[in-house]
Parts: sequence; structure tokens; C-alpha cells
Amino acid sequence: MHRTLRLLVVPALLLGSAGLCAAQDANLARNLAATCANCHGTNGHARGDMKPLANMSSGKMLALLADYKSGAQPSTVMGQLVKGYTDAQLQLIAGFFAAQPAGK
Ligand code: HEC
Repeated sequence: MHRTLRLLVVPALLLGSAGLCAAQDANLARNLAATCANCHGTNGHARGDMKPLANMSSGKMLALLADYKSGAQPSTVMGQLVKGYTDAQLQLIAGFFAAQPAGK
């Protein structure tokens, strides 16, 4: 490869992969939150009796989830389920739902 060309191509590749990482991070919160959709509805818009998660403040959700995890709040499924996520993952999930508009 021509020397000047190589000097241009390498930084372009580095920039390209940094952009890809940022895009993956943006999708990570959404993808993690999608694991809640079976029960709590798409983007936290619950149907029927299920509790909606959309627009719940991040602090409130993290407090509820911490109580399920510790057992302070008895539950049928949430206590088991929350143990499968790291605190960092739960923060991403809570941030995603807090940013969803309320309503159906
Ligand atoms: C298998 C069905 C199911 C899935 C999947 C599920 N939930 Fe739940 N969730 C429940 C049930 C049922 C309750 C009521 C508490 C209980 O009995 O476990 C609940 C309660 C909650 C509450 C309390 C709501 C309130 O207003 O009191 C929050 C917050 C919550 N879930 C968050 C999540 C998050 C975040 C996820 C995804 C990581 C998730 N749930 C996935 C079934 C589910």
C-alpha cells in the first residue's frame, strides 16, 4: 500500500471501530430491558394487571429491584430474576425505562 494512503486509512479504521462500540452501548440498555418485555410489555407498557415500568424513575426502580434481590420485598418471580443481572446491568435497564414515555 502507498505510504501516504496507509497513514490515512489506519486512523479511519480506528475511528470506525470506536463508533461501533458507542452504537453497541446504546443498544445494550434496550436489549437488556427487552428481557422484561414478556411480562411487563414492550418498552415497559404493561397490559392487563401487570405493573408498567415505563417512565418509572431510575431511583425508584433500582430501590424496588434491590428489595427483590435481598428478599426484603417478597415476590413470586422478581427476586429470582433480578439475581441474574449485575448492578451495572440493572442501572442500564432502569435508565432505559425511566426514559420511556408513560401510557400505552
Ligand atoms: C416472568 C415475568 C416477569 C419478567 C420477565 C419480569 N418481571 Fe418484573 N414483575 C413480575 C411480577 C409477577 C411482579 C410482581 C412481583 C412478583 O411477584 O415477582 C413484577 C414486579 C416488578 C417491579 C415492581 C413494580 C411495582 O410498581 O411495584 C419492577 C420494578 C419490575 N418487576 C421490574 C422488572 C424488570 C426491570 C425486568 C427485566 C429485567 C422484569 N421486571 C422482568 C414479572 C416479571
